[in-house]
Amino acid sequence: MTTTRDHLIGLLLGAEEDWPTAFEALVRRMGLLTTADGIEHRIETERVTIEPFNLRDKARQDLCIDRLAYWYYHPREWLKKASLMDDVYLLNSPFTFQSMEKHSAYCAMLRLGMKVPNTILVPYKNPVDNARWAYTSAKYNRSFDLDALADELGYPLYMKPFDGGGWRGVSKVDDVAGLHKSYDESGEMLMHLQESIDYDVFARALTIGPETMVMKFRPELPMHDRYEVSHDFLTPEAGQEAITISQTVNAFFRWEFNSCEMLVKGDQIYPIDYANACPDVAVTSLHYYFPWAMKALAKWSAFCVATDRIAKTQVDTEPWFAVADNDQLDYDAKIVAYQRLADAHFDTERYNEFCATTLSHIDEITYEYVTSPEFRSMLTSTIHQTYPTHEWERFEAHFGGLLTMWSDDNAHLAG
Ligand SMILES: Nc1ncnc2c1ncn2[C@@H]1O[C@H](COP(=O)(O)OP(=O)(O)OP(=O)(O)O)[C@@H](O)[C@H]1O
Ligand SMILES: [Mg+2]
Repeated sequence: MTTTRDHLIGLLLGAEEDWPTAFEALVRRMGLLTTADGIEHRIETERVTIEPFNLRDKARQDLCIDRLAYWYYHPREWLKKASLMDDVYLLNSPFTFQSMEKHSAYCAMLRLGMKVPNTILVPYKNPVDNARWAYTSAKYNRSFDLDALADELGYPLYMKPFDGGGWRGVSKVDDVAGLHKSYDESGEMLMHLQESIDYDVFARALTIGPETMVMKFRPELPMHDRYEVSHDFLTPEAGQEAITISQTVNAFFRWEFNSCEMLVKGDQIYPIDYANACPDVAVTSLHYYFPWAMKALAKWSAFCVATDRIAKTQVDTEPWFAVADNDQLDYDAKIVAYQRLADAHFDTERYNEFCATTLSHIDEITYEYVTSPEFRSMLTSTIHQTYPTHEWERFEAHFGGLLTMWSDDNAHLAG
């Protein structure tokens, strides 16, 4: 007799409707999954609601994809309870994200030998709101020469919050006047000064489990045009290095779903921003790459629940630092070693095997879904929610065209 196991995937959501609708549709289409041991798995999704919870209540979910906890704290605490009490697998775990913001991420990747641009943390411009500040500052705050620090980095430079995100408080500083203006305006934000990289190309990589898509990004354009459909914008070596950097970041910090921004100049890759607990996966920004992202999310979630993958919520620096501190290894050799550690962390070989057997129909159902009226209506309603009426037609054509390009490029996946 066949055993069937049920798995529930929770979605903890904010304002987004597009990708959850697509994800739900894909998981529904996956149907019963059979693993190598002959067990059948039925996977269902459910949107998590926010309500009082007893710390002893048992969470029903096996896995939860979180998009909300970075700003909404009640569900964040629910996630922590679900992780600690009920072993719910989290994409991503608030434990790792709360303790590791941009600054820590810079430090850790510097230790691993990554080419993070030269960066200096300066004390607050304005006094912190604390009765003990005057005494502490008079006694211990050393005056410093902001201009000299900036000279050390060179102009232009970037000033940005140590825990930044969403371009909040980021400024490009061209000269001394701009330096003082930006610092004065930083107020109670704690700021990094960072050397600017005069890059040839901006690569933004989205990583979900062991799957990474490295995309060409144009930060200066409006969101719907930032990702450019471009397949060979990096050499194969640089492309692989970008994948390894992204997967190293995630495996090191135990992040499952994250984006990594890298500036590429010549054959050098400089990671600048890679702690994004809630990476952008909107169809209106990812367009052509959206089907890839939804498929990767469905595959990785299915793998985690069907194989009872155990979440690791604590960072284990030891094996990484052992590579980092090994003087016998140069940068390239370390990159190879980090990829091995990342593959071990994500159980990549087993995952690939699972995808090839249990999920052998995933390409076909993704293709069927993306070319279906159901997908099209999700796209249309997203356009209606996102843009003013007079732009609907233009964006229907824009995104419709990009997704038709995806289906043309992937026609071989049709059933
Ligand atoms: N060192 C740098 N050299 C060149 N450009 C940089 C550098 N740091 C930041 N930038 C530019 O500033 C933008 C914002 O910086 P950063 O990504 O670090 O901030 P953020 O607040 O995390 O923004 P977002 O959430 O939009 O990614 C980058 O996308 C890039 O265009
Ligand atoms: Mg960024």
